[in-house]
Amino acid sequence: MTITELRQKFLDFFQQQAHVILPSASLMPENDPTTLFTGSGMQPMLPYLLGETHPLGRRFADSQKCFRAKDIEEVGDNRHTTFFEMLGNWSLGDYFKEEQVAWMFTFLTNKEIGLGLDPARLYVTVFRGDESLNISRDAETVELWKKCFSSVGVQAKDVNFAERDGMADGRIFYYDVKKNWWSRSGVPANMPLGEPGGPDTEMFWDFGADRQLHERSEFRDRPCHVNCDCGRFVEIGNNVFMQYRKTSEGFDELVQRNVDFGGGLERMAAATQDDPDVFRTSAFLPVIAAMERISGKMYDGSAENTRSFRIIADHVRGATFIVGDPQNVLPSNVGQGYVVRRLLRRAIREARRLEVTRPFISELAQVVIEQFGDAYPELKAHEARIIEAFQKEEIKFASTLTEGLKKLQKMGHPTGEQAFILFSTYGFPLELTEEIVREQGTEIDRAVFQEEFKKHQALSRTSSAGTFKGGLADHSIETTRLHTATHLLHRALKTVLGEHVEQRGSNITPERLRFDFSHGQKMTPEEIQNVEEIINDVIRKDLPVHFEEMTVDEAKSHGVIGLFEDKYAQIGNKVKVYFVGDDAQGFFSKEICGGPHVMHTGELGLFKIQKEEAVSAGVRRIKATVTGI
Ligand code: SER
Repeated sequence: MTITELRQKFLDFFQQQAHVILPSASLMPENDPTTLFTGSGMQPMLPYLLGETHPLGRRFADSQKCFRAKDIEEVGDNRHTTFFEMLGNWSLGDYFKEEQVAWMFTFLTNKEIGLGLDPARLYVTVFRGDESLNISRDAETVELWKKCFSSVGVQAKDVNFAERDGMADGRIFYYDVKKNWWSRSGVPANMPLGEPGGPDTEMFWDFGADRQLHERSEFRDRPCHVNCDCGRFVEIGNNVFMQYRKTSEGFDELVQRNVDFGGGLERMAAATQDDPDVFRTSAFLPVIAAMERISGKMYDGSAENTRSFRIIADHVRGATFIVGDPQNVLPSNVGQGYVVRRLLRRAIREARRLEVTRPFISELAQVVIEQFGDAYPELKAHEARIIEAFQKEEIKFASTLTEGLKKLQKMGHPTGEQAFILFSTYGFPLELTEEIVREQGTEIDRAVFQEEFKKHQALSRTSSAGTFKGGLADHSIETTRLHTATHLLHRALKTVLGEHVEQRGSNITPERLRFDFSHGQKMTPEEIQNVEEIINDVIRKDLPVHFEEMTVDEAKSHGVIGLFEDKYAQIGNKVKVYFVGDDAQGFFSKEICGGPHVMHTGELGLFKIQKEEAVSAGVRRIKATVTGI
C-alpha cells in the first residue's frame, strides 16, 4: 500500500467513527519554548487532553508531521527516521479502551476498510502495573485484545517477564514503565509536575524470524521478544490511555480520560508490504531512485551503500519539511535552523561516500515536494524558498570543506591524531581526509584515530553516574557542549554582574541550557551582550578543557567555583575540577563538576542567550543555545 493510500484509509476509517479530521499542525510548535519540533501527534492536542474544550468536538484524527532530532544519529538502520508522519486519533474524554482496541484491531486486520494485515503476525504489549505508582496492570486491555484475536481464531496467550523468557508462545506481553508508559518526558520519574501521561498498549508487526535482522542487535544471542530492538518486530502503533497527571505525591486522575493513538505511517506501510525496510516504502522510494540516478549506484542492500542512501533520503526529506513549514525556518546556526544545517551537511557527506561531489540536494528536495505536495500544500507554496536555501547551503558547506582542506594541506601528511583533530574540531570527515591523503600516496593510521576517538568518548563518560546535577541525563555531543557552555556562562555572569552570582539550578537538554542564578535585577541588554561576547571570545580562542582531582581545600584555595556538595564530582575524598584554559593563555574557568565536557571550547560554535527572566525573588533564569560545529 502506498503511504498516500494508507493515510487516506486511516482518516476515512476514523471519519466513519464520527471523528473530525484535522490538518497537521506546524512542525515547529508555536508558543512552546521547551521543544524545537513537534515530535508526536499529541503535542498540538495538549491543552485539550488537559481538559480545555475543543471547539470542534471530542473525537479527532489526523496525520501529523513529526521530527525527532534526537534520532539523527540513529538513522541508517531499516526503520529509524528523523521526520515521519504520525497517524493519530483522539478521544478527549469521550470513548476509552473498549472502542479503541476494537477499532485498532479492525483497522489493522480488516481487508476492506483497513490494512488487511494477518492477525497471526500481530503482537501487542500492555502495561504490567507498578506498585510504587499505585497503578495496577492493565487487565482490561488484555481481555479486550483477547476478544479481538479470538474473533478471528488466533490464539492470544498473555505472558509476563518477556525479556527473560523470550516469546514463550505469547501474543500479549506485559512490560513495565520503560516500555508501556507514555508521557512527553518518558517514564513517570522524569515527568515534571502537572505533566499528563498514562499506560499504553502498543502493536507490533512480526516481519519474520528468517530475515537475519538481528545480527547487529545486542539481543542476537538471547531469546527474541517483541520489544527487543532486533528489528524482527517493529512497533506500528501506540494507544496511550492518557488518564493521569503527575503530582507531588504521585499521580492524580486527569479531569477526563483520553485516548491518544499514534502510529508511524511509514512503518505501517512497511508492514503492508511485508518488508521491514521503511526506505522501500513509497515514502522514500522516489528520493532513493533519484539518488540512484545521481550517483550511478544502486540501493541494493549492499552494506556499504545502504546506510548512505538511507541517511541522504531521510535527511533531505526532513530538511525539506522543516524549511517548507509555514514557520519560515532557514539553515542557520541556532535552534531549528541549525538542525536543518546539520541534516543537509550530513547528507552531503554521505553523498561523498557514494562518490557524488556535485550539488544534488535541491534536486532531491524537488522530488520530495513533488511527492508530498498534495498532502502538504505548504511544501509547494514554499518551493522557491526551499530550493534557494538548499543551494546556498550546499555552496557554503563546500567552502567549509575547502577550509578543512587548507588545514589539511598545512599539516602535510597528517597523523591519526591530527586527523582526529580535523574531525572533532572542524567537522572534517575522516573518510575525506583519508581520500586526500591517499592521493598523496600515504595512509592515515586508523588505529590512532580510533584511539583518540575512544579517549574522547571516555572523557565524555567519565562520570559513570548516568545522571548529573540539574538533570543533565545524557552524554550526547549536544548536551556535552551545553554543559561546557554552562561553566562559561557561570563564570561570565560573575564577571559581568558580580561575584554574588551563585548557581541555583541547571538543566540541560540537547537543545538548550537553562541556568538559574542568584541576582536581584533583570539583566540589561548591555549586560546580556557583554556576557555573550565574553563567552564567544573564549570559544574563539579554542581553549583546552581538562579536569584534575583535588581535595576540597585545594579546590577552595585555587578559587574554584561550583557546588562543592555535588555528589557526582566526589571521587573518594577528592573532587573533580574542570579547567577551561591553560598556563599560557590563563584559566577562564575552574569549576567543580562530574563532567562530561568537550575537549576544546571551539567545539561550542556560537553561544547565544535566548531568554533572561525571573524565577523567584532574587533568582534569575537564562536559557541559552550553542551551535556546535
Ligand atoms: N503520544 C504517543 C506516541 O507518540 C501516541 O500518539 O507514541
